[in-house]
Amino acid sequence: MRPTPTSLAPPVPGPVPRRPWLDHWLESVKDLAELQASHPMVDAVIDEIDGRMIRVGEQWLADFASCNYLGFDLDRDIIDAVPAYLDAWGTHPSWSRLLGSPVLYEQIEERLTALIGAPDTLVLPTITHIHLSVIPLLAASGTIFLDARAHKTIYDGCQAARARGAAVRRFRFEDPEHLDELLTAERDPTRLVCMDGVNSMTGNPPDLPAFAAVARRHGALLYVDDAHGFGVIGERGVGITNPYGSRGNSIVRYFDETYDNLILVGGFSKSYSSLLAFIACPTPVKDLLKVAAPPYLYSGPSPVASLATVLAGMDVNERRGDALRDELERLTRRTLDGLERLDIFTPNRSGLPIIEIPLRDHGQIDSVGRFLFERGVYVTLAAYPLVPKDEVGFRVQLTAANTDAEVDTLLAALEELAARGVLRPAGELPTARSAAA
Ligand SMILES: Cc1ncc(COP(=O)(O)O)c(C=O)c1O
Repeated sequence: MRPTPTSLAPPVPGPVPRRPWLDHWLESVKDLAELQASHPMVDAVIDEIDGRMIRVGEQWLADFASCNYLGFDLDRDIIDAVPAYLDAWGTHPSWSRLLGSPVLYEQIEERLTALIGAPDTLVLPTITHIHLSVIPLLAASGTIFLDARAHKTIYDGCQAARARGAAVRRFRFEDPEHLDELLTAERDPTRLVCMDGVNSMTGNPPDLPAFAAVARRHGALLYVDDAHGFGVIGERGVGITNPYGSRGNSIVRYFDETYDNLILVGGFSKSYSSLLAFIACPTPVKDLLKVAAPPYLYSGPSPVASLATVLAGMDVNERRGDALRDELERLTRRTLDGLERLDIFTPNRSGLPIIEIPLRDHGQIDSVGRFLFERGVYVTLAAYPLVPKDEVGFRVQLTAANTDAEVDTLLAALEELAARGVLRPAGELPTARSAAA
């Protein structure tokens, strides 16, 4: 039968069903929201601390969720240094930096520039401020090449840049060759590559020399966020026995790289236990950021206590930082050796103090978290959508202020979890992490 003309006519397009943005978002964060509402290890109120032991309600737990890698938050020399700064400067300057910066900022930037061996540095309150304001400026209306597994704050900075006319392309995690391919195919002359230094989940640094070489070959500026590496990893060389390197002067020095065509971002809020962050860049870029990066002009500054703990932390880093990094490396090695003995998989290949332990079944995150809580172990739960479903699990972080007894408690709990079969065996192939783009 010949179709009637009406049945040949294309369907009249009706309104495209669109879910409101909020519904979509609530659906994406459903797993996390459930944990937030009911889980003792998510959105917890910490009532008291004693060293790296914390009390949540009646329960004391060994804290493996802290990023205070060097233990500076508890360091007596640093705590004792703060009152003199408060006497001299009050609690909070409140000028935005463009209006006026206490000389403490100059002191921090000078010492930081010397420590990391960069051309210059500019400090602002947080890395989040830096990504959101600096990435759009550097990208302009050019093209950003974004690591597919970049930290959410880098991603948000790129989204802000996109809203102002930049294009964003993703390259596969840990894959400089893919970046090379994308850059080769790109006609846009303005190119910015954005990625993490030490990864906040895997604990592994990227192959910085390989990424830097690709970026330089294609005339792209490389922008690296080493929030977790600064204070932990640093320059290596003759006489330095710690595999983390010395001085904690971050990933560029760790790889003996240069700052040519490379912008380094780091923060004091992890290893230095202080609310402050920095961008290392040439002086002309710093001068541009002073007038064009909104936080320098529009945001409030860090509190004086944080400027004080940064300066006192730099003193302690000079005097005993390497001893603290030795202790951090020893505790981390004990933990990783324990995982190997128990046949537990972790993506950590670096030996750095961030140890992610994925579950066999993402649906067990709630019960595994409760088990760890009952055993007195506090970790970061990595629920969906913080990580892809096949990587749901928990993250253990070591600090120099943890003790051997705390590591024993952790390993005993992990042994029980491994015996129950909820963790992945070490021999199991990692999930298609690098294909996750
Ligand atoms: C890789 C990375 N970048 C940025 C941030 C955010 O840093 P800030 O608190 O200084 O904004 C974090 C915090 O956890 C992080 O892990």
